[in-house]
Amino acid sequence: MKIILIGASGTLGQAIGEQLSARHQIVRAGRGGADVQVDITDFASVQRMYRQVGAFDAVACAAGNVHFGSLGETTPEQFGIGLKDKLMGQVNLVIAGQHQISDGGSFTLISGILSQEPIRSGSSASMVNAALDAFVGAAAIELPRGVRINSVSPTVFVESMALYGPYFSGFKPVPVADAALAFVKSVEGAQTGKTYRVG
Ligand SMILES: NC(=O)c1ccc[n+]([C@@H]2O[C@H](COP(=O)([O-])OP(=O)(O)OC[C@H]3O[C@@H](n4cnc5c(N)ncnc54)[C@H](OP(=O)(O)O)[C@@H]3O)[C@@H](O)[C@H]2O)c1
Repeated sequence: MKIILIGASGTLGQAIGEQLSARHQIVRAGRGGADVQVDITDFASVQRMYRQVGAFDAVACAAGNVHFGSLGETTPEQFGIGLKDKLMGQVNLVIAGQHQISDGGSFTLISGILSQEPIRSGSSASMVNAALDAFVGAAAIELPRGVRINSVSPTVFVESMALYGPYFSGFKPVPVADAALAFVKSVEGAQTGKTYRVG
């Protein structure tokens, strides 16, 4: 399969690339230093990426930013970061790519555990992750030609504990390779409209 991997240089993106590159052609995408440049917050940039790549069989997205901050201090603009980047950025990938993807192809989006297990300073992430999981359930019943869509909803990664550990007190982290395996299940499997919870 020819798979577009968005956020390929990140912690999760590298792990997904390691698992899929043995069997598939990977087109690495990101804002810089990748095979193809894309900013998922910019719909024109997403359309340009698809034009550049041509025919493809799957999109795996490991990109998406949200603002972390206390509810009392977070501004509407800061809530807008998650809406524009992690949520609409990934929705952009689907609405721009749905007519070009191969028959039976798949989209796999990244959400996260905070939709189900809220933490302090995580209200924007909880909101966006829940919206993404709901979106894949709804998009799955409308995508044409056997095209599938799933989300992967991991807990915090072992590899990211230095960055996020203090937010996730009491959570058991998982190796990022476990989340990458859920991407493999989505891309190579047959299910659609699912959220794969990891951890
Ligand atoms: N880390 C965790 O413990 C954890 C747990 C659960 C869920 N998640 C979710 O997993 C996703 C990835 O996390 P991570 O820790 O792997 O992040 P990361 O290491 O910061 O990597 C992010 C990747 O996305 C790319 N990127 C960022 N913004 C982009 C944009 N607007 N357009 C295109 N590419 C963009 C970055 O490359 P460029 O800068 O070159 O664009 C980079 O390759 C996030 O959505 C996060 O919420 C993470």
